[in-house]
Amino acid sequence: MEISGETLKAIMRNYPTGVTIVTTVYNNEYYGLTVNSFTSLSLNPPLVLIAIDKRLQSHEAIDKSNVYAVNILPDDMKDLAIKFATAPREERFKGLKLRTAKTGAPIIEGSIAYLDCKVTAKYPGGDHTIFIGEIVDAQILNNKAPLIYYNRGYYSIAQAKPLP
Ligand SMILES: Cc1cc2nc3c(=O)[nH]c(=O)nc-3n(C[C@H](O)[C@H](O)[C@H](O)COP(=O)(O)O)c2cc1C
Repeated sequence: MEISGETLKAIMRNYPTGVTIVTTVYNNEYYGLTVNSFTSLSLNPPLVLIAIDKRLQSHEAIDKSNVYAVNILPDDMKDLAIKFATAPREERFKGLKLRTAKTGAPIIEGSIAYLDCKVTAKYPGGDHTIFIGEIVDAQILNNKAPLIYYNRGYYSIAQAKPLP
């Protein structure tokens, strides 16, 4: 059975995710993009993964720097999620408070938590590449409510109804 891209997208819209901004530093320049393909992979060793479109400039930057940091976004950073998905690269970091992670990747102040990673493996995934990251540093920064992406819209987990 052939599944069209449109059908696949329509199906995946039913699967809510958190929202992150993945950053890296390459040639002394910061790169960052909004990512929801972030997944926890292994506890021992501590591994995560992200899947990045091969056509993106961020793909080249992560592929060459072999480091990335995952910033987990709270519900008050929706505008930043949109910015890091749509604005030109030079505008994305403007006005942000940043700190530098161990790998040199920028951490965005106000994120709920970050994971600083070294790329230990890369796997082809069709038009994306799966970058496995070994966590070299990580920290929880605050206890804000996470931002959720669902059906092409943004939500706060704070509005979600806990099931009995
Ligand atoms: C909620 C959301 C999640 C996204 N997740 C991913 C992802 O997991 N992988 C990816 O390659 N692009 C993802 N994107 C698209 C990139 O953020 C977008 O293409 C970005 O402009 C790429 O930046 P660049 O062109 O500077 O590399 C996502 C976009 C949104 C809005």
